[in-house]
Amino acid sequence: MAKAKNVFVCQNCGNKSPKWVGKCTACGEWNSFEEEVELRDKDLAALTFVAPGPPLGDKPLPLDEIPDQDLPRLDTRNQELNRVLGGGLVPGSMILLGGEPGIGKSTLVLQLALGLGALRTLYVSGEESPRQIKLRAERLPQKGQGCLILSENSLEKVLHHAHTVRPDLLVVDSIQTLQTQSLEATPGSISQIRECASQLMRLAKGTHLPVLLIGHINKEGGLAGPKVLEHMVDVVLQFEGDNQHVYRVLRATKNRFGSTAELGIFEMSGQGLREVPNPSELLLSQRDENLSGVAVAASLEGMRPFLIEIQALVGTAAYGTPQRSATGFDLRRLSMLLAVLEKRAGFKLASKDVFLNIAGGIRTSDPANDLAVVCSILSSDLDLALPRHACFAGEVGLSGEIRPVNRVEQRVKEARKLGFRRIFLSKYNAKGLEEPPPGIELVFCAKVEDAFRELFAG
Ligand code: TYD
Ligand code: MG
Repeated sequence: MAKAKNVFVCQNCGNKSPKWVGKCTACGEWNSFEEEVELRDKDLAALTFVAPGPPLGDKPLPLDEIPDQDLPRLDTRNQELNRVLGGGLVPGSMILLGGEPGIGKSTLVLQLALGLGALRTLYVSGEESPRQIKLRAERLPQKGQGCLILSENSLEKVLHHAHTVRPDLLVVDSIQTLQTQSLEATPGSISQIRECASQLMRLAKGTHLPVLLIGHINKEGGLAGPKVLEHMVDVVLQFEGDNQHVYRVLRATKNRFGSTAELGIFEMSGQGLREVPNPSELLLSQRDENLSGVAVAASLEGMRPFLIEIQALVGTAAYGTPQRSATGFDLRRLSMLLAVLEKRAGFKLASKDVFLNIAGGIRTSDPANDLAVVCSILSSDLDLALPRHACFAGEVGLSGEIRPVNRVEQRVKEARKLGFRRIFLSKYNAKGLEEPPPGIELVFCAKVEDAFRELFAG
C-alpha cells in the first residue's frame, strides 16, 4: 500500500499541487489551496461504483441474462418528490440534494422522513441540535413515528448507528459537516467530503439502504466540494427558488434511475413545504386586470406543461446606457431577442430600458417562452394590453422567424384547460398537429411581425 502523504488541494476545483500556490492554475481561484492528506490506494478503491443487488459473478453477461432489479422502489409519499426521482427511492441508491442556504432543504428532507409513517429513518444532522429539529417538526403536518434524530459529526459513529438501527432511509444533513477519523483534514475539505461520501456509498450499496445527502453550494451556485461527489452519487437534486417568493422548484441534474427532465414544485408555507400539483393555476391566479407588458407562455418543463406569466417593462433610458435586466430568464437570450426585434422587425428599443420578470420567482429555460417574452416587451413598449385569453408558444430565431416547439398538443390542452381561447404558435407546428380541443383557436405565425399584426393591428 502506498504511504499517505500531504498535498495541497484547491478547495474550489480539486486541483492538486505538491506545494502551496496562491492562485490555482486550473480554475484561477485565489487563495484556495489547503493542505490535505493524499488519499491512499485503499481509499481510492472505495470510490469505485458497486452496483446494488447480489453479486453476479465476475464474468461478462449478455443483457437478457442479467436479472431485473428485484427490490421495489420506496414510495416517498410525496408526489412531487416521487416524480423527480423517477418513481420513488431506489434501494441502495445515493442521492445528493443541493441548494442555497435557507431554501428549505432540511425542511423538505424532514418532511420526507416524517411522511414515511412507521418506516424507519435515521436523520443525522451535523448542523442542528435535536431540539431545533423537534421545533421544526412541530410546524410540519407529517407526524411519522419512525424518524430517529441524531446530532453527530463523526462518520464512524453514524455508520455504527446505521448498523444498529437498520433504518429504511439514512439522511445526512449535511455531507460537509461529517468527519472521518481516518483523515486529518478539516470537515468540509475535499478529502473529507470524498472519503465520507465513499464510505456512505459502500454502506448504501452493501445493505440496499437509500442514503440522502444534503450538500452546500458554493458562491457560484454549484455543489460545494469536488465534482467527484456528483460523479459518485446516483442522483443529484437541485432545490431552487427565490427566497423572496414562496415557490420552490426541485429538479434532478443527474438521475441514474429516471429522467432529468422532470420537475417538482413546492410552496413554502407556515407548515412546511406544500406540494403544488397544478402549478399553472397558482402562477396565473393574479390575472384580474388587463395590464400592458404581460404575456402568458405555454411552457413545458420536463414532461409537465404549465402556463407562466411573463412581465416586461420598457421605458426610456434615464441615463446614457439603457439598462437590461431579467429575473428568471437568461439575460443573453433577452439581449438576443431585443436585437432581433430591432434589426428584423424594425422596433426601436436600443435606447430603452428593458426589465423582464418571470412571475412567481420561477426560472425557465424553455425556448418556447421566446414568443411570450417578445410579445410582453412589445405590449409594454406600446402600452397596449394583450388580449386576455391569448397565450404563446414559439421559439424566436435570429431572423425573426417563429420556430416550432415540441409537444404542442400538450401545451394547447393545458391552455384550453385554463380557459385560454387563442394560442399563438409557429406555422411550422401546423402540420402533423392533432385536431385541437374545441374552444381554442390556434393562430399560426411565420414571423414576429405576423404575431404583432394579429395582436395589435385593427
Ligand atoms: P431550511 O430547511 O432550514 O433551509 P436549508 O436547510 O436549505 O438551509 O429552511 C428554512 C427556511 O424555511 C426558513 O427561512 C424558514 C422557512 N420555513 C417556513 O417558512 N415554514 C416552515 O414551516 C418551515 C419549517 C420553515
Ligand atoms: Mg439546513
